[in-house]
Amino acid sequence: HAESVVAKLDETVSAIRSKVKNVPRVGVVLGSGLGAFADTLGDLVKLPYDTLPNLPASKVVGHAGNLCFGNVDDVPVVCMQGRVHLYEGHPVWQVVHGVRTMARLGVQCVLVTNAAGGIADGWSAGDLMVITDHLNLMYHHPLIGPNEEALGTRFPDMSNAYDAALRAKLANVAKKENLALREGVYAGLLGPSYETPAEIRMLRILGAQAVGMSTVPEVIALRHMRMPVAALSCITNMAAGIGKGELDHKEVEETAKARRADLQRLLRGWILAAGAE
Ligand code: 6GU
Repeated sequence: HAESVVAKLDETVSAIRSKVKNVPRVGVVLGSGLGAFADTLGDLVKLPYDTLPNLPASKVVGHAGNLCFGNVDDVPVVCMQGRVHLYEGHPVWQVVHGVRTMARLGVQCVLVTNAAGGIADGWSAGDLMVITDHLNLMYHHPLIGPNEEALGTRFPDMSNAYDAALRAKLANVAKKENLALREGVYAGLLGPSYETPAEIRMLRILGAQAVGMSTVPEVIALRHMRMPVAALSCITNMAAGIGKGELDHKEVEETAKARRADLQRLLRGWILAAGAE
């Protein structure tokens, strides 16, 4: 008989507690090409996912697999350096196990980042977008199955999935750092193929400004636990039929890398603001 998700979480959390004393106040998920931020943490302790129970390692290029503990000035932080995606074939509980683990470790809020394709008119590769809401078009859901009452309610509210106060902190830091920030709706698709131009036209009509293959399951699982969440997309390329030519994962990595310094300033400022309370 399958062990419950809560029992698996307890296993992961106690393994972590036996290795690190740091009690993180803020959690961050670092998406494709964005993982380098973790290496800037003070007093960094890296726990590879494959040394911890129940955390699967990603095989995607550009995705390391480490749970990273450290500090941004005096704010204790935990970062997921890399994540696993549904399209890799992992069961959905495993896709959200990392963020649930951060929640159980006691973080007060979580910032989820990703690389995404741009859909909106006038946007271009390299834009940064604060996610205001999402469309779950993954044909999957992390809360399918018996509800884990210890984590949250059967029918969690998603009205304010992306916390307004945490979003305002991103906007404040961006202003101070002189960084342009877009805002928009993120459409989460299963992947792993990119979309067709017709699918992108559909997503535009549905009200999406960006499209990607992650984030949605994680945010749902975090909101189930009533965790305040903010999310940020690095628009690494324009989506099919908008950009010139073919889509390529190399471009995703290269654009994310080109915006690395700006993203790190944004993350650092946000963590200091979010971790202050
Ligand atoms: Cl165009 N689509 C999806 N689904 N994910 C992406 C992307 C596009 N660009 C980066 N990630």
